[in-house]
Amino acid sequence: MLLGVNIDHIAVLREARKINDPDPLDAVSLVKRAGADQITIHLREDRRHINDYDATRIIENSQLPVNLECAIEKEIIEKVIELKPHRATIVPEKREEVTTEGGLVVAKNFQTLKDITKRLQTNGIEVSLFIDPSQKAIKLSSEIGADWIELHTGLYSNIYAMLFSNLTYTKHSIKELELPRDRLKELLEKSLKELVDSTAFANSLGLKVAAGHGLNYQNVKEICKINGIIELNIGQCIVARSVFTGFENAVTEMLRLIK
Ligand code: PXP
Repeated sequence: MLLGVNIDHIAVLREARKINDPDPLDAVSLVKRAGADQITIHLREDRRHINDYDATRIIENSQLPVNLECAIEKEIIEKVIELKPHRATIVPEKREEVTTEGGLVVAKNFQTLKDITKRLQTNGIEVSLFIDPSQKAIKLSSEIGADWIELHTGLYSNIYAMLFSNLTYTKHSIKELELPRDRLKELLEKSLKELVDSTAFANSLGLKVAAGHGLNYQNVKEICKINGIIELNIGQCIVARSVFTGFENAVTEMLRLIK
């Protein structure tokens, strides 16, 4: 299993103070030294964490491939073409959200996504579409000509958290998942089956499959068992753990679980 380490949250910490450290660029060599496979960053339209200067320096200096997440916005796509990362992962983006909630609505944006995909690929950038595990979205992603899909594991991760971390007693409970344990177990099985079936279907269409969002040191094991998922992009939990263990150790611990 390949690991892309999402380092956005290092910039989140910097922006909490609007100063110059911690610098996400400093994480790049540590990710490589720990043995992970890719750097993942999200250049949001509002530049709330990673900014153009970060993205430029990270892409110029990284010895690992850089996977740049970006929205379907003309200004951002032009920037991506200028920056020339190894891969662009197109994600939905709403200004008010805390993080990327839900996958792309592929049907609604079909032609735009097809045009953007072609344009990025012509410029030597491989394209991944961040989608929910749905057969329809996968079929359309294949028709669009994407190289990869990244399956959104947010629902699985939320159910897992409600089942195993007693979130009802903490600040950030997920109201719609405040359900009896038996029901949560059923939902967890269902969400895993959707990921398994989606991966098999995507592979049958020749798409490479990554997964990510909300994965952590506890819930990642089940995802690693899914045949056909070849890469995970994981960020928040690694940066969170690094506060206590150091960044390189936090990456190494994740690699130990998934390799
Ligand atoms: N993959 C994609 C497409 C994402 O948007 C994100 C969140 O930025 C991640 C992976 C990483 O998610 P997390 O920070 O929850 O590990």
